[in-house]
Amino acid sequence: MRTIGIIGAGTMGSGIAQIAATANSTVYIFDKQTEALSKSKEKLEKILTRLVEKKRISEEKKSSITSLITYTTSIDDMASADLVVEAIIENINVKKEVFTQLENLVSEKCILASNTSSLSIASIASCLKKPERCLGLHFFNPAPLMPLVEVIPAVQTNPEVFELVYQLMLDWKKVPVKAKDTPGFIVNRVARPFYGESLRIYEESYGGLPQNTQGFATIDWALKHFGKFKMGPFQLMDFIGNDVNYTVTETVFKAFYFDPRYKPSFTQKRHAEAGYLGKKSGRGFYDYTEGATSVEP
Ligand code: NAI
Repeated sequence: MRTIGIIGAGTMGSGIAQIAATANSTVYIFDKQTEALSKSKEKLEKILTRLVEKKRISEEKKSSITSLITYTTSIDDMASADLVVEAIIENINVKKEVFTQLENLVSEKCILASNTSSLSIASIASCLKKPERCLGLHFFNPAPLMPLVEVIPAVQTNPEVFELVYQLMLDWKKVPVKAKDTPGFIVNRVARPFYGESLRIYEESYGGLPQNTQGFATIDWALKHFGKFKMGPFQLMDFIGNDVNYTVTETVFKAFYFDPRYKPSFTQKRHAEAGYLGKKSGRGFYDYTEGATSVEP
């Protein structure tokens, strides 16, 4: 699998493109928004420059990675891909539209994967003429740094397709784990109560004292200092994106027949609706704009 197509140049698509090009694959990354593509390119340039400064990669490697990635607004450029990884908005209908369109462009042998956090792979695959070529390939954020990747065969997936992609993840120096096609797979299912209970504590206003900080900052502080988590739940929600994180919770909640354990939070919903998406929009629970006085945990 030498040529990799990526659909969506946001947080995840950009990271996956970096991994694939670092592993010497030719990469085509497609987004319908030119702005997303230019941001993705700029961000990669910054990351690679920092890696060169830290002597983690050579100047030649940086040039090689950059030259292997083509940024495009034409989905037709996916035609030569051996594997396409979709990383667009977490919406089953939009994803199905893209997969249907893709199947008409790519070769018979091309594998189609979704980076969905929570949607049914069986349902995504069902829109294809060859559903056996489809599977879930769930990276974690930031994709180039997080070793774990969930590889998720649907009931329709050809076992050879699974094996090929599992091996590719090993070649990309990742730690793949086979996960079942259940809502949220492994990590996102286990993580739901981490976010959900933290949001509930905040909504019940039990988290504000004794630091006299904003309630959520106290919860983050407690989990980091005593729970030894690298990031507190609110920092992590801001990092992932409140829009993405909320949608994943809502999907898991519905998929588990409205089990109250996974009940989504109005607070997070309002943040997403207000555009307080987190780091990517400059404001989430915390304020990331320059000179902001938001309390850090
Ligand atoms: P994002 O919002 O950063 O980027 C999504 C990109 O897709 C945007 O640039 C948008 O313009 C583009 N897009 C939307 N619809 C499109 C279409 N029809 N055709 C082409 N491009 C389109 O989203 P993010 O965070 O990268 O998430 C993408 C997927 O990865 C979602 O399914 C999400 O659940 C999953 N994911 C997200 C993680 C995170 O921490 N943010 C972690 C692991 C998975």
